[in-house]
Amino acid sequence: MRACAKSILAKEIEMLKLEHIFAGYSDATVLDDCSLTIGEGESAALLGRNGVGKSTLLLTIMGHVRVRRGSIRWHNQDLLKVPLHARARAGLGWVPQEREIFPSLTVEENLSVTALPGQWNLKAVYALFPRLQERRKNFGDELSGGEQQMLAIGRALMLNPKLLLLDEPLEGLAPVLVEELCAAIERMVRHEGQSIILVEQHVEQALLLTHRGIVLERGRVVHEAASTDLLADLSVLEKWVGVRIQPPT
Ligand SMILES: Nc1ncnc2c1ncn2[C@@H]1O[C@H](COP(=O)(O)OP(=O)(O)OP(=O)(O)O)[C@@H](O)[C@H]1O
Ligand SMILES: [Mg+2]
Repeated sequence: MRACAKSILAKEIEMLKLEHIFAGYSDATVLDDCSLTIGEGESAALLGRNGVGKSTLLLTIMGHVRVRRGSIRWHNQDLLKVPLHARARAGLGWVPQEREIFPSLTVEENLSVTALPGQWNLKAVYALFPRLQERRKNFGDELSGGEQQMLAIGRALMLNPKLLLLDEPLEGLAPVLVEELCAAIERMVRHEGQSIILVEQHVEQALLLTHRGIVLERGRVVHEAASTDLLADLSVLEKWVGVRIQPPT
């Protein structure tokens, strides 16, 4: 897989901007003065050790975690004033770590039930994931883990998000499925122009699929750089992410 070219759009037209966000659960502060910006048309990998707040950051953007201080701008509007149920319609898509597909609906029903008009329709999603087309009459609970992940992504795409938040989509998948899913995400980002924030433990794959890498540590952005630059010297990332990263083959 070739690395993504640096995004010339990055930060020129701001799509999402978090400024000094403090957020968490009951007494615990997880996001602790967290600031980041995603440009229009840009895709970013969100990296960091277990428990640093990556999922909490996505949950906060989607409105599931209350913000105590700070601001979130979405297309220059105050996102904190947009109610939770209206965020999908405002263009934010989210595939949670737990996938959450409907087990008693078929693949096609899962895809269609919440769909909104736009470039991502059944035809486009089936072109991205031919396996889903083959399984379109199967129920959600009849799918393998990899197929469920494809369905979760497909369903989120059917809402035609301007920005899609993906929380560890490769987690727990066999290597052959990791490859298949990476190829689909690559097509989605490069050829269809879909912007994503990709949370991943598979650091090198995540950087190959995005324009920029953002490292979170204790609820705060501590390092960010173009994905191509981070890929050129993965040892820089090792101290932040805490694992030995194998260079991509
Ligand atoms: N619902 C919750 N209630 C209370 N604390 C929570 C809740 N969810 C997460 N936490 C805590 O918030 C912190 C950040 O968790 P979060 O799930 O955002 O991390 P993460 O970076 O996504 O980790 P992982 O890589 O394991 O998915 C952790 O200390 C976690 O225990
Ligand atoms: Mg998480």
